[in-house]
Amino acid sequence: MASGQLSRAEALACSGCRHACHVMLYCDTKSQLFGRLPIRHIILMQMRFDGLLGFPGGFVKPLEETLEAGLSRELLEELGVALPISVEDHADSCYAPASSHSSSSPSSRLITHFYVKKMEEEQIREVERAAASTATDHGQEVLGMVRVPLYTTKGGGGLAAFLSHSFIGNARLQLADSLLRLNLVAPEELHKALTHSLKIHTHT
Ligand code: APR
Ligand code: MG
Ligand code: MG
Repeated sequence: MASGQLSRAEALACSGCRHACHVMLYCDTKSQLFGRLPIRHIILMQMRFDGLLGFPGGFVKPLEETLEAGLSRELLEELGVALPISVEDHADSCYAPASSHSSSSPSSRLITHFYVKKMEEEQIREVERAAASTATDHGQEVLGMVRVPLYTTKGGGGLAAFLSHSFIGNARLQLADSLLRLNLVAPEELHKALTHSLKIHTHT
């Protein structure tokens, strides 16, 4: 386990810590951009109220609910669908970077838990429809769902340009780690996109 990361049990042992849970929902797809560029996977992120990109989820209350029940509650508010999340969907837990919590006192540290859930394409489309219609947070905490482009166009657009945007907390790292771990993008392609994204970022 990398430094800064905690097991789920270690994270829960910190009773004074605040906890937030977020999830990457994704599926395989056979669809193609312009009828020729394979899209390969649909990965859902969201444009948040603060203008940053992030994953759906939010603060949970471990004294009142399990991490997974708290995440499902947040997903119902943000996506408008009841999605069961299980302990097996848990990918990692870690302390949030210092900038994403207001106090440096250890007792109020924020621990972020990340989950990954693979779904069918039709279920992902249903989540997108509900998030834009029945979700109570639509237009408020959540400005809209976005799909992550995994391809690179001839002009160098696609994944690198997406990664050059601003993300909340660890979300950019959580995305890159998941792409690698789940083998959704080849390591060398991801490395190129990450390097190129930094160049795009510094030129804007
Ligand atoms: N990595 C690290 N931290 C993250 C990530 C991430 N990928 N995503 C979100 N966070 C942090 C946010 O900075 C926030 O402090 O986790 C915390 C909770 O996540 P949100 O999704 O923002 O929480 P939510 O409960 O959905 O929304 C409540 O209303 O009052 C505001 O600022 C409050 O952001 C909070 C929101
Ligand atoms: Mg929320
Ligand atoms: Mg949220």
